[in-house]
Amino acid sequence: MIDDLKRFTVDVTSALAFGEDPNTLEKERGLIREHLTQLLPMLMFRLNAPFAYWHYIRFARDRRFDRAMIEVHRYVRALMMRTRERMRADAVSMEQDSAPRNLLEAMLALQDAPGSAITDDTVAANVLTLLVAGEDTTATSIAWALRFLGTDDALQARVAAHARAVLGGASVCASYQAARDLDLCEAVCTEATRLHPIAPYVSFEPLEDVCLQGVRLPKGAKLFFLNRPPMMDAANFSDPSRYDPDRWLHNDAPDAVHASRAYMQFGAGPRVCPGRHLASVEMRLVISMLMANFSARIAMNAADITEVCAFATRPSAMPMRLALRDVAIV
Ligand code: HEM
Repeated sequence: MIDDLKRFTVDVTSALAFGEDPNTLEKERGLIREHLTQLLPMLMFRLNAPFAYWHYIRFARDRRFDRAMIEVHRYVRALMMRTRERMRADAVSMEQDSAPRNLLEAMLALQDAPGSAITDDTVAANVLTLLVAGEDTTATSIAWALRFLGTDDALQARVAAHARAVLGGASVCASYQAARDLDLCEAVCTEATRLHPIAPYVSFEPLEDVCLQGVRLPKGAKLFFLNRPPMMDAANFSDPSRYDPDRWLHNDAPDAVHASRAYMQFGAGPRVCPGRHLASVEMRLVISMLMANFSARIAMNAADITEVCAFATRPSAMPMRLALRDVAIV
């Protein structure tokens, strides 16, 4: 499932942010996705390397990575070129409203504005950031939810009934209004990533000297905060080790502790994740589609699934056996 979910998230990000759906989901080999998936694990590997060996010697793994990055950059540049051509054609024909239709068009329009200091490299770097930031993170969050849904029949039946009620006779959620009603589908993912934080830490840098709880933090110090401890602290979440999606739906139980600010999966402050609402919609769409149409079982011993940290923390595996539910679909 992890691979399929990554294909889905790449397709969604590209279609929405860049106006092109590479449809890696339906291709035998989703080339751009295969190259992209090498990026975060290599970043993690190099961050933990005892020294920056790759400046002196390149092993097979580094050469594979170099080749993948060449392909990724080629893809991004070609995407930018196609978008520019489309924008030029639209401007000439004047058939389209000239307002940017997606994020890439907005960035290119900004670059072309008089006095702009934005370069092609800046736009390309932002395209790459969006692709990388939105892929593993969202796919992995959904995969962790399947870890719980795939082993809990009662929860799965409840989510399936909820999804079917919202979707009606449709096979997928087709309207924004319907997506807004799928709170439980997002809650199963949010709660899964509270227990298995896919963003294991967030990094900050003070803009001025500060003193926090008696600790002096000089301006510019690099700070890394672990995300799991506050999310597993009973001072923030009642019965913290229990998987309980409902805690995200009605947190008004008189004695319940629910400090949602301790859920730092999307970071905080001025650099908070700009894709968090898109991620939430993707979770709602995937979980509702899966649960409404299929019954899902983990096809291995769930206890053997471990956390693998490759920048984002993903499950070691998530093989699922899906069986089509007996429903009339329009
Ligand atoms: C469950 C899914 C996601 C998680 C857990 C997540 C998590 C994060 C985190 C922790 C940060 C760093 C925030 C900080 O420094 O304080 C971040 C940044 C970012 N995210 Fe996400 N993200 C997710 C989905 C997405 C999606 C779908 C997109 C867009 C397609 C996206 C785009 C970005 C970008 C562009 C940044 C950099 C923002 C900046 O540096 O100013 N993310 N994300």
